[in-house]
Amino acid sequence: MIIANWKMNGSRRSVATWIEVVSNNVNIKKINPCIFCPPTCYLEYARRLIDENSSSIEIGSQIVNHSFQDESLTGGISSKMLKDLGIKFVLVGHSEQRNFLKESKNVITKKIEEALDDELSVIYCIGEDIDTKNKNETHLFLSEQLDVLGQLQSTHKDKLRSITVAYEPIWAIGSGLNAEKVYIEETHQFIKKYINDHLGWSHLRIYPAVIYGGSVNLDNCEEIISSTDVDGLLIGGASLNSETFYKIYNLS
Ligand code: PGA
Repeated sequence: MIIANWKMNGSRRSVATWIEVVSNNVNIKKINPCIFCPPTCYLEYARRLIDENSSSIEIGSQIVNHSFQDESLTGGISSKMLKDLGIKFVLVGHSEQRNFLKESKNVITKKIEEALDDELSVIYCIGEDIDTKNKNETHLFLSEQLDVLGQLQSTHKDKLRSITVAYEPIWAIGSGLNAEKVYIEETHQFIKKYINDHLGWSHLRIYPAVIYGGSVNLDNCEEIISSTDVDGLLIGGASLNSETFYKIYNLS
């Protein structure tokens, strides 16, 4: 799974150019989905262009809101709306949303549950800040973020296969300082084992997919993805350039 996360960037024009260039140059393998997450306002437009190009690029949403029972939410976007648009993937728990939008674990749990109810595949983002890393407390920090998956109601446990974990150390996001391969491997192994041993995943007889994000670029992608513990990449800045993105996908 290789994901382009455009964050709050782009225009109708750049979306159209990107879809055309990537569609014409990417060799998409079924086992390795190629997912485009444009800003929400371009989701419908991107969906249409991808269909017109008969492209196998999938669309993901960077955002989803959960419903507040009978309350209304101006500006909200529900998982039902995303499903209605033919969106298959959604990012939940990105550190920028945790930090700037003050998303609590409770909110994140509800978002995941509603997304799973609406048959979306969830990319659940986790990652430690630099202080936590320096104090050697990364595993403890990540286990607390992973415990959200243990809190899903039992009806959602059957859908665990629809969850991918994206490990994105906060200090690596947008900094140009990707984590080193051995650190990524060791952390991905920890995440897979923790989910399997503590969060009721073992009955699935598969380890969860864990992808890496944080300053992935054309120079470091091959080394990172070559690890058997890395099941994909979540790419921010480097995904904005269509040529860079399709080259990274084709190398993965
Ligand atoms: P980056 O962003 O590749 O620009 O570091 C990754 C992300 O936040 O998903």
